[in-house]
Amino acid sequence: MSSDTPSTDAPHESLPGGPARRRGPFRAGERVQLTDVKGRMHTVVLTHDGYFQSQRGSFRHSELIGKPDGTVVDTPTGHQLLALRPLLSDYVLSMPRGAAVIYPKDAGQIVQMGDIFPGARVVEAGVGSGALSMSLLSAVGEDGHLISVERREDFADIAIGNVESWFGDRHPAWEVRTGDLAEVLPEAVEPASVDRLILDMLAPWENLDVAADALVPGGVLVAYVATTTQLSRLAEDIRGTENFTEPQAWESMMRTWHLEGLAVRPDHRMIGHTGFLLTTRRLAPGNSPPRRKRRPAKGAYPADAEWTPDEVGERPISEKKIRRVRRDVRRRAEMAQFGVAGAPGTTADNSTGAQAETPSSDDAAAAAPEDGTA
Ligand SMILES: C[S@@+](CC[C@H](N)C(=O)[O-])C[C@H]1O[C@@H](n2cnc3c(N)ncnc32)[C@H](O)[C@@H]1O
Repeated sequence: MSSDTPSTDAPHESLPGGPARRRGPFRAGERVQLTDVKGRMHTVVLTHDGYFQSQRGSFRHSELIGKPDGTVVDTPTGHQLLALRPLLSDYVLSMPRGAAVIYPKDAGQIVQMGDIFPGARVVEAGVGSGALSMSLLSAVGEDGHLISVERREDFADIAIGNVESWFGDRHPAWEVRTGDLAEVLPEAVEPASVDRLILDMLAPWENLDVAADALVPGGVLVAYVATTTQLSRLAEDIRGTENFTEPQAWESMMRTWHLEGLAVRPDHRMIGHTGFLLTTRRLAPGNSPPRRKRRPAKGAYPADAEWTPDEVGERPISEKKIRRVRRDVRRRAEMAQFGVAGAPGTTADNSTGAQAETPSSDDAAAAAPEDGTA
């Protein structure tokens, strides 16, 4: 098969967001990502009479129309610009946003760990800017069904614009509903008919009852939350319903790498935090979760819910250890001040000037300030 001329008669060519939009030479009306030699990116929509202008090179769009994806344009001013069709992950990060988007690394995990399969009936809320909707639609395909619920009409409009712009039209499997999930979901779906439910919202625990009613037995609930306090509340409330399996939670960090000759190392900057993911599965109606063999840590569920070190599971530190750490700290301060351990007139037990003993890692941890600036 010719790699750059998409045939129009194969049935899969008409798939939304499929080969017809992803293969072949650049066409007018198409979005193209331009990268200059400094790595700066610009996204343009090619038009027959369009002109791209920047400090690092300018050219007429007509020079690019008809050229293959991955063309390097040599501009009259001697600059070079690399032209590529954006991937979904590029598009998500450059599209207009109303609400914060789910990053591609997390969207990938939701599709994988949420087991979003072709033909699945999926519900997501909220829609925000529509970033996750595109990954979900790609995964369920034309024969699936995605209902995206968003309480804000303005955000729903932004999401529809972004998603239609990516697929080139309304995706046949997509239905957008505005309103609060707790009210919309029971009207939108039959009980026990939803295969997968994804919650990306401030208070997902408010929707656990409607989620339990909507999900098929064994159906997967995936939640994405930004903070540990949300994560904890959600996990406890899920357990409290007795309708779901034991929740699993994790976060992922993506560290990009600098690749140059012998200088192959992690980049200095990274996105340190996006959100936490949690999955759980709907139990068959009438069943409750198996009793856990391993009992929760002592103090994990305090009757009076006080925030004490013991109750949040911190390891207790003995008075003896604290005394030792204090001694070490004093010794180090003396060494820094006088150049020897045990300054004249002090009662430090190491007055011979020998090196202060290095505290064990436990001691160091106990002595370290909480912000980790030791
Ligand atoms: C962080 S955004 C979602 C981003 C989206 N997943 C994306 O990838 O672009 C959270 C959205 O949830 C919506 N929302 C919050 N609670 C909701 C509820 N109970 N029902 C429907 N939408 C809700 C908010 O209006 C907001 O747009």
